[in-house]
Amino acid sequence: MSDSATMNDDRSLVINCEKVTRTYNEGPGKLTIFSDISLQVSAGESVGIVGSSGAGKTTLLNLLGGLDKPSSGHIDICGQDIHRMSESGRARFRNRHLGFVYQFHHLLPEFSALENVMMPGALGGRGVRQASEQATAILERVGLGARLGHKPGELSGGERQRVAIARAW
Ligand SMILES: Nc1ncnc2c1ncn2[C@@H]1O[C@H](COP(=O)(O)OP(=O)(O)OP(=O)(O)O)[C@@H](O)[C@H]1O
Ligand SMILES: [Mg+2]
Repeated sequence: MSDSATMNDDRSLVINCEKVTRTYNEGPGKLTIFSDISLQVSAGESVGIVGSSGAGKTTLLNLLGGLDKPSSGHIDICGQDIHRMSESGRARFRNRHLGFVYQFHHLLPEFSALENVMMPGALGGRGVRQASEQATAILERVGLGARLGHKPGELSGGERQRVAIARAW
């Protein structure tokens, strides 16, 4: 991996990744994707991870997002070691604290923009009414207040991506 721009100051640490290694078993041997990666991300900071195809960017993001486990090292998100949690605890943590926006929007086609955005809140235990109010406010913020009832197939590519961003908020 060629670069990960990080900056560490006195703002609260959101991500603390220490000496993380990811290997895959490959026949009798091991394929090491990367080893001993350490990086810190503070609140409000934007970080880009740059590297050639196959360098391990997606692998690292899956680890930082709690979707995959490191072979060694540990990752604290908001002060909590996400890989020491139970599977269900980690799923709850992801629901509360982490948002993902993929290259492909992964919106649920049968549901409206509003329903897609309110889904994490409603599933995470917020009442349907509160989740709906919050989702409406976020969709208005990304300029989609007039498209709440549209299904993904009735939105433009950029609008779908904005719905995905609103859902990750
Ligand atoms: N399940 C797996 N088993 C073995 N090797 C894997 C597995 N998943 C990914 N790899 C290998 O790990 C390396 C890193 O993959 P990764 O998807 O993280 O790359 P990337 O930096 O996101 O690349 P791209 O820019 O092409 O998306 C690749 O060489 C890939 O072949
Ligand atoms: Mg990738």
